[in-house]
Amino acid sequence: MPRLIKAEEVDSTNEWIKKRLSKLNDLDSFIAEIQNSGKGRNSKDWFSPRGGLWFSILLEKFQGAEGALSLLCATAVCDALEEHNLLTNIKWPNDIILKGKKLGGILIEKVQGKFIIGIGLNLNLSKSDFPIPLKDIVITSKETIHKELDNEAIAKEIIKRIAIGRNNLEEIHKKYLKLSGDLNEKVKINNGEEIFTGKVIEIQADGGIKIRNEDSEKVFYSGKLSYLS
Ligand code: BTN
Repeated sequence: MPRLIKAEEVDSTNEWIKKRLSKLNDLDSFIAEIQNSGKGRNSKDWFSPRGGLWFSILLEKFQGAEGALSLLCATAVCDALEEHNLLTNIKWPNDIILKGKKLGGILIEKVQGKFIIGIGLNLNLSKSDFPIPLKDIVITSKETIHKELDNEAIAKEIIKRIAIGRNNLEEIHKKYLKLSGDLNEKVKINNGEEIFTGKVIEIQADGGIKIRNEDSEKVFYSGKLSYLS
């Protein structure tokens, strides 16, 4: 039976799992009230005060493409939130968007062939909790539903959906496409090597995003996506 281990404060729940890989099993998870050194994608800091949902899951068994894991996790989060009347969508690869702003994100790391899925959601927080540079970018659950959410229950629902969904990736891909806010959008993607602009024409089952412009068509598996309109 997978465990959900809890703590008051840690540096980062991903780091906590990483340090205990040999002692943990598939689907064991770790949730903290506060992270004092939370990490986002692209080496960014992740602001994680008390109130939000900050947790990580160890996934040892996953048969699909690595990009498909991103689709699975984002879909699991949106589905779990929908149960609590929060209707979100996804910005590739796995930003969780509510009313056009970022409600949360997912950081997937691979260590010794095992995946560590870190999920951060701005639940039960107020905009005033955020420092000025983040205030205009983020949104919290409180701005749309005016009641406290049960973080632990939501974490368990997400874990359950990941556990089941990993055996049905075709279905997950279909769900992801319904939740994606990117299809047909004009975008710019920067993968550190190049910046490419065009229209999103497909998000593939392997997690790749296909972007087309007048000159060419390219599939990206990583990068920062920005909307142009
Ligand atoms: C992103 O940049 O969008 C991904 C953010 C991921 C944040 C979560 S919070 C729980 C886990 N622990 C971390 O340090 N990061 C992830």
